Amino acid sequence: MLPPAAGLRADHRLISFDPLLVEFDLASLEGRYTPLQDFYIRNHFETPAVSSHPSLSIEGEVESPAKLTYRDIASLPRHQAPAVLECAGDGIGEDVLASNGLWEGWRFDDVLRLARPLATARYVHLYGRDGYSRSVSIEQASQDGLLAMRLNGQPLLPAHGAPWRAVFLGWYGMDSVKWLARVVLASSPLPPVANTYLRVLRDPSGNVIRQPLPRVLVKSLIISPKPQSVLPIGQITLRGVAWSGKGTIKSVQASADGGASWRPAEIDSGGRYGWALWRASFHLTERGVVEFACRATDATGATQPIERDRSLLDGYTFNIVEHVRCVLV
Ligand code: MTE
Repeated sequence: MLPPAAGLRADHRLISFDPLLVEFDLASLEGRYTPLQDFYIRNHFETPAVSSHPSLSIEGEVESPAKLTYRDIASLPRHQAPAVLECAGDGIGEDVLASNGLWEGWRFDDVLRLARPLATARYVHLYGRDGYSRSVSIEQASQDGLLAMRLNGQPLLPAHGAPWRAVFLGWYGMDSVKWLARVVLASSPLPPVANTYLRVLRDPSGNVIRQPLPRVLVKSLIISPKPQSVLPIGQITLRGVAWSGKGTIKSVQASADGGASWRPAEIDSGGRYGWALWRASFHLTERGVVEFACRATDATGATQPIERDRSLLDGYTFNIVEHVRCVLV
């Protein structure tokens, strides 16, 4: 039995209980946003107990170190942003470690300014109450960061970082530290943890290089039909989602012949960081196996690769074109 604190439905795709790892079954998506009870969860440690007097310390390279309470932060202007949160490890399991939410909170920049950052501050170290930590550049924190308290119009659930968490729009989920308790501004980043959340690649001369992961790469998925569906011949409509951390989705191409030919899908934009919903219809009259595929392109012109770049040695940022095989009868 799951503890009520996890706020989960019984039919979830629970991958691990401790630490909690729950994938999102895309087929359950009805609207634009992932319902709270379906939102994927990626924890590294136990979910900490709800704190009755939450506070956020801002320390390090600042003029006025501060221990902020809800009242100190509440007077800042509120900000809302639709955004996909995607785990850098999405694409390995059967379901997805990505969800689309309407985040609400305060700009991280406004929160940091309460402690007056010094010019020497280049990185922001973020510490969660569960012992998890990450560091991001000051640019990432001030341009793309939110201190979020609400998701889809509701207070954050304990599993998603209640009462507040960081959310970095357009960046993979590992930086969006939950149960945020302490922020330290510093001139250097935290040392990386082994190969965790790092790009590991082999350069042309064979050297292995480690780098931070990039912004979220352009990606699209087919929601329906599900793989291995048996469908009657005739009109078949593909539905899916597409997103990118670099720019809005400009086009999605769909294929009903395994990627040999493509046709443009209709897209309903999700804004700068949210996912776009797309659909494409085909009239298919031949019985047998059919292979659908989709491929998105963002405003920067970046598109999904057909194959994984072989120089990448890590298992992160999977965004190759998705294929879904079905049978037409
Ligand atoms: N923050 C804390 N404190 N502890 C964690 O384990 N996991 C990170 C990030 N923030 C994590 C965390 C990872 S890897 C991801 S992908 C996202 O939270 C997942 O957020 P979610 O569980 O709300 O979907």
